[in-house]
Amino acid sequence: MDNPSPLSHIAFIMDGNGRWAAKRRLLREYGHKAGADTFRRIVNYCGEIGIKYVTVYAFSTENWKRPKREVDAIFDLLCRYIDNYLPELIERNVSVRFIGEKRGIKTDILDKMSLLEEKTNGFEKKLFIALNYGGRAEICGAVNRLIAEGKTTVTEDDISSHVYTSEAPDPDLIVRTGGEYRLSNFLLWQAAYAELYITDTLWPDMTPHDVDLAIEEYKRRNRRYGGL
Ligand code: FPP
Repeated sequence: MDNPSPLSHIAFIMDGNGRWAAKRRLLREYGHKAGADTFRRIVNYCGEIGIKYVTVYAFSTENWKRPKREVDAIFDLLCRYIDNYLPELIERNVSVRFIGEKRGIKTDILDKMSLLEEKTNGFEKKLFIALNYGGRAEICGAVNRLIAEGKTTVTEDDISSHVYTSEAPDPDLIVRTGGEYRLSNFLLWQAAYAELYITDTLWPDMTPHDVDLAIEEYKRRNRRYGGL
C-alpha cells in the first residue's frame, strides 16, 4: 500500500565523512569539507522537491571527544558555510535554526549563528542544524523548562511543544548514511514514528538521486502509528 502521509520533514544523520577521507588517504578534515559541500547540495535539493523541513546532525555533544584539530575544522566549516551561503538561503526562502546547547561554543561562532538565524528569520522552509546537540539532554531541557513554568506533571504535548523543533512536525523520515544502525542520540523524542532509512553510502557521496531512493522507499512503507 502506498504511504498516504505527505513527506514534510526529513532528517539526516550525516555519517561517514572520516571513512570517505580515509579511503582517499586524506585527513579526516577533508572528509568534513566534502561533507559540508554535500550538506549544501542535499539541503538545496530537498527544498527544490518541496520538503518544507530539513534537520541535519552536524555535531553531537559527544563529538567534543574528537581531536581538537578535527573539532576546529568542523566549526571552521560552519563559519565558512554561514559566510558563503547566507544569500543562497535567503534566495531559497530557508530559515535556519540551530538546535543544541550553546554552552561550549565560542562567542564569535555563536554571534555568527545568531546572525544567520536573524537574517533568515520567517521564511517558509526551515533548516534545523543540530550542533552540540544531544537528544536526551534536549528532553531533560524541555522537562526542566516545564517545571520552571510551574508544571508538576507533564503531557506528551507539553514536551513536544518544548523541544527545539517544536515549530516543525516530527520527522517523517530519518536518513542515516555510513551504514550504522543506530540513532546516536539524535531526535530521540521526535523520532517516535519516523521511518528509518539507512544506506551504506558515505555522506560526502550522497546525491540527490540517493535522496530520491530514500523517498521512494518511504513511500512504499505503510505507516500505521500502532494501528492496523
Ligand atoms: C560524521 O562523520 C560527521 C560529523 C561528526 C560532522 C558532520 C559535519 C559536516 C557534514 C560538515 C560541516 C557541517 C556544517 C553544518 C557546514 P564521521 O566523522 O563520524 O565519519 P566516520 O564515521 O566515517 O568516521
